[in-house]
Amino acid sequence: MSLPPIPIAKPYVGAEEEAAVAAVLRSGWLTQGARVAEFETAFAAHVGAAHAVAVTSCTTALHLTFVALGIGPGDEVICPSLSFIATANSIVHAGATPVFADVDETMNLAVASVEARIGPRTKAILAVHQVGLPAELDQLRELANRHKLLLVEDAACAAGSSYRGNPIGRPVGVAACFSFHPRKVLTTGEGGMITTADAQLAARLRRLRQHGMSLSDLDRHRNVAAGYQREQYLEIGWNARMTDIQAAVGLVQLGRLPGIVTRRRELASAYGRAFSDHAIIATPLEPADRQSNYQSYVVQLRGHTGAQRDRIVNRLLEEQIATRPGLMAAHLQPPYAKTVTAALPMTDRFGDESLMLPLYHELGADGVERVARALDLACREAG
Ligand SMILES: Cc1ncc(COP(=O)(O)O)c(C=O)c1O
Repeated sequence: MSLPPIPIAKPYVGAEEEAAVAAVLRSGWLTQGARVAEFETAFAAHVGAAHAVAVTSCTTALHLTFVALGIGPGDEVICPSLSFIATANSIVHAGATPVFADVDETMNLAVASVEARIGPRTKAILAVHQVGLPAELDQLRELANRHKLLLVEDAACAAGSSYRGNPIGRPVGVAACFSFHPRKVLTTGEGGMITTADAQLAARLRRLRQHGMSLSDLDRHRNVAAGYQREQYLEIGWNARMTDIQAAVGLVQLGRLPGIVTRRRELASAYGRAFSDHAIIATPLEPADRQSNYQSYVVQLRGHTGAQRDRIVNRLLEEQIATRPGLMAAHLQPPYAKTVTAALPMTDRFGDESLMLPLYHELGADGVERVARALDLACREAG
């Protein structure tokens, strides 16, 4: 009897999300409206931020944040290369230049490497909370303050994570940007959110996401008593509106978030126990002052790179288990081939040796055990 396939990830959505979507469809208001406003308020309250601005994706959230902060041509932003390519792309979208710093053993920015990259054109540090593990925020904030730089958080993967007891999204830097792609812990299909303590920044972001308009659609329709209100277009913006359909899903997902994170942490602990003291498989680090939501579970295959890692991935596929080789390094991709980059030894190591294992709400202890057994065997076979 063949065992069921184990995918790499699976969104946790159900009847409540279905009902919420149906209610929006019946309401006649589909795009950014009351549900988006409600989702923003609930998300801001959940993380402890004064403002939350919903947009179409985290890439857009980062891009608009840089524009709103006045970061553009001639400016440099320091970020990790070891991240999904959207991190670096968002800087380029704003017209600025990414400067790649190395990571430490947690896979997050190494503060000393960031400091070594600071130059006269540096305007900001973009810290990624890699696969949900918060970056060393206090040290990065101290560094940013000392050099009069802005600190922006790429919190794409980090809804439900916390740093020194505070939820990610409670502003440490000037803004934190989230993704709600289905591979993320909280999903709206596609979507993004910016949280900030800065009311002016939030207002500018609201304008930029809606073609530079002075009024939102909701304001124009809500204030019927005030008579017809003519909008103005105060600057050139974008269409980065989240829909009410997405926000309705997001509201349900936000209620589920603590339970989803608890389950993911239990599954991560089970992987940790299965691989403790393993000769080849090294489990991810989680310093005592931070909690990861384990958006992904990434192990390192010590000394098993290239063809050996591919053999392991394919061997697991034969067992119907999906894994993904490595975290990507943007500096090795064609668009950044000409970017002058100092040596990034830890980035290269993680890029070569890391392997993403399946982790999703319904995986269960049995699933973890099956993956762990198959991976152990595949490593031994790969030599
Ligand atoms: C670290 C990081 N930043 C940015 C993004 C982009 O998010 P989105 O797909 O919502 O644009 C991702 C998506 O995987 C990511 O992992």
